[in-house]
Amino acid sequence: MKARLGILLSGRGSNFLAIHRATVRGELAAEISCVIANRADAPGLLKAREMGLPAYFVRTRGDREAYETEMAALLEQHRVQLVCLAGFMKILGPVLLRQFAGRILNIHPALLPAFPGLHAQEQAWRYGVKYAGCTVHFVDAGVDTGPVVAQAVVPVLDDDTPTALADRILEQEHRLYAEAIKFVIENQYVIDGRRVMKKK
Ligand code: GRF
Repeated sequence: MKARLGILLSGRGSNFLAIHRATVRGELAAEISCVIANRADAPGLLKAREMGLPAYFVRTRGDREAYETEMAALLEQHRVQLVCLAGFMKILGPVLLRQFAGRILNIHPALLPAFPGLHAQEQAWRYGVKYAGCTVHFVDAGVDTGPVVAQAVVPVLDDDTPTALADRILEQEHRLYAEAIKFVIENQYVIDGRRVMKKK
């Protein structure tokens, strides 16, 4: 049985496309059951439509309970088992967190807990760290604070620019996200407090 994934995005959608590629290639025993965007003109949403995937725009202004209820209904309607945030620029509230407790992943372009929030790659570059990277984590009510599932390290080069660094991190994101989803849908993990570990 293929796991049913729901993607939430706000922009470009390259992580969504990488996940989709992994499902098509059979690297991931999963299918994307629906894509939801909170921007009508998100390139990722337009791509999803072109690809013939069920794709929805849900406005996320105003009453969070109302719009999350709408999203949760769509995810339920498509029998989504795991929600993957892929560049979704909104903090989740209790409606989604409760309905999909322990079943929401996010990818962040930094080695958390360093550099949460916006422009993480540039934050890391400005700080002067020698290693940057990306993190897949379970989602909780905070900003990039949930338990870490997987990380990939990307060295920062002396002649890097924020853009060049972000591009190399993105390459790793595309690989890491599919791997982490596989790990989660195959239920290969146990959680002890914040620590997500491989089942023995
Ligand atoms: C990625 O860098 C991801 O880590 C962050 O938002 C960006 C989304 O890029 N959460 P894309 O829309 O998947 O191309």
